[in-house]
Amino acid sequence: MATQQSDAAASNNPSVAKPGPCTLVIFGANGDLTKRLVTPALYNLSLTGLLPDNFAMLGVDHNGKDDVEWREHLTASIHSFVGGTGEFDPAKIDEKAWGWLTERMYYLVGDFEDEGTFTRLHDVLAGIDEKNGTAGNVIFYLAVADRFFGTVVDQLGRAKLVDAEEGEGKPWRRVVIEKPFGHDLQTSRELNVRILQSLREDQIYRIDHFLGKETVQNIMAVRFGNGMFEPMWNRDHIDHVQITVAETVGVEGRGSFYEGTGALRDMVPNHVFQLLCMTAMEPPTSFAADAIRSKKVDVFAAIKSIQPEHAVRGQYDAGAVLGKTVRAYRTEPNVDAGSDVETYVALRIMIDNWRWAGVPFYIRTGKYMTQRTTEIAIRCKSAPTMLFDHGSGAAMHPNWLVLQIQPDEGISVQFEVKKPGPVVELKSVKMNFSYSDWFPPQQNVGYETLLYDVMIGDQMLFQRADQVEEGWRIVQPVLDAWAKDTPDDFPNYIAGTAGPAEGDALLARDGGRSWRPVRVDSGPRKLTAGNK
Ligand code: BG6
Repeated sequence: MATQQSDAAASNNPSVAKPGPCTLVIFGANGDLTKRLVTPALYNLSLTGLLPDNFAMLGVDHNGKDDVEWREHLTASIHSFVGGTGEFDPAKIDEKAWGWLTERMYYLVGDFEDEGTFTRLHDVLAGIDEKNGTAGNVIFYLAVADRFFGTVVDQLGRAKLVDAEEGEGKPWRRVVIEKPFGHDLQTSRELNVRILQSLREDQIYRIDHFLGKETVQNIMAVRFGNGMFEPMWNRDHIDHVQITVAETVGVEGRGSFYEGTGALRDMVPNHVFQLLCMTAMEPPTSFAADAIRSKKVDVFAAIKSIQPEHAVRGQYDAGAVLGKTVRAYRTEPNVDAGSDVETYVALRIMIDNWRWAGVPFYIRTGKYMTQRTTEIAIRCKSAPTMLFDHGSGAAMHPNWLVLQIQPDEGISVQFEVKKPGPVVELKSVKMNFSYSDWFPPQQNVGYETLLYDVMIGDQMLFQRADQVEEGWRIVQPVLDAWAKDTPDDFPNYIAGTAGPAEGDALLARDGGRSWRPVRVDSGPRKLTAGNK
């Protein structure tokens, strides 16, 4: 009989079903992603009783290790996070939950390019299956550099490791692929063609970790779970939308990766476009994965590829971020001293459909900005008459609905009220809903839901082939233009600021609009007597 995953598990998540039996094979078993996110997420799932009773984990990598050494390696790393400040920073490790997991960990030494690895994998999986009762169900997780995605999938196909059909009671095989999925439209298409030779689309789980964030999923709940918002969610009531993903980190020792990537490729067709789709999609007819994914692709289909005049790029110079002095991008390790790679991008996007015609979506993302904040800010149209300007013609303050994604998850609404006193004068106030006021904090690295969904076979939070390609199609003209033209003003923003002046001009030329300040809203948290 299966042992309990942890003492806490029995009382947690009574309504969430445990997934059926399976083995999780992790290619890149010694890599950063396995250590920092995948294993902590599995531990959190074990803690909440959400791993299958019949579960096993098989690490595959080229480093010579055995089962015990891999278990020890991951045990040391999970303990090293205790009391830290990263995504995973528990106060302590629950030894029962961790012990339960480590008992089920196995390791296979193997090169991804060597066919022999996959022949051995076949046999090792059969052994694990017999021992752990995993019913022949296998997830292959590609936690490897993107240059290996095609290779590993080819090898899985050749070794007949991914032949299984999905269906009631039949063993299944699923493959999880990390970002980046291609580097442009052509390479993403090529990669799709290549992996679809060995896999069916319903076996492929293309991860965008933004979709694992609670508050990104909450966008759908807010929009489609409330009768209040949907009537105003269109061009009749919304003036424009601003999506900001501002980071306070630089390239963090990833200079050589970033030199071949830049902010546009790194963040926009994937993460930022997920936020855009969630905000702009039509209501789905159900929560079936394809019902939702098709609505997202419809948003992309209504966006023309962006022309370079609607795009701004920036690169940070030395400055100070949150009080700490930081170096210029061009002096980072493994970065060319004359690099033209952008660390900031802003775009103006129009969605040519019935709901959004004429409503610009401005998006921006950058490294080393003033504050860390990810938000979707919806600017409502002004009230139709200027009743309260006392003849001055002064513009009314706009109403804003702001979905704060991170770091302080919540929603705020800014609207006008009468300032107390004998004269009728308006004042903007804010109502804030903060997740932390209503829900206990959760240990969550963002991969828990994604891993759980792969185990239960729900592809809703994963990208379909057409969605990935559409994302690249939309930004391709900008990628092409930037590859040809050298910017003559780089670096053009100081680290610790809100980005280059051209980013402001992108909005200003649309009738004098401006970005919201890049800062975490530090206004009153709740409307209490003390806030008056
Ligand atoms: C990654 C990018 O995909 O997402 C990083 O490669 C970026 O450059 C990160 O910093 C942002 O994710 P998060 O979860 O920290 O907001």
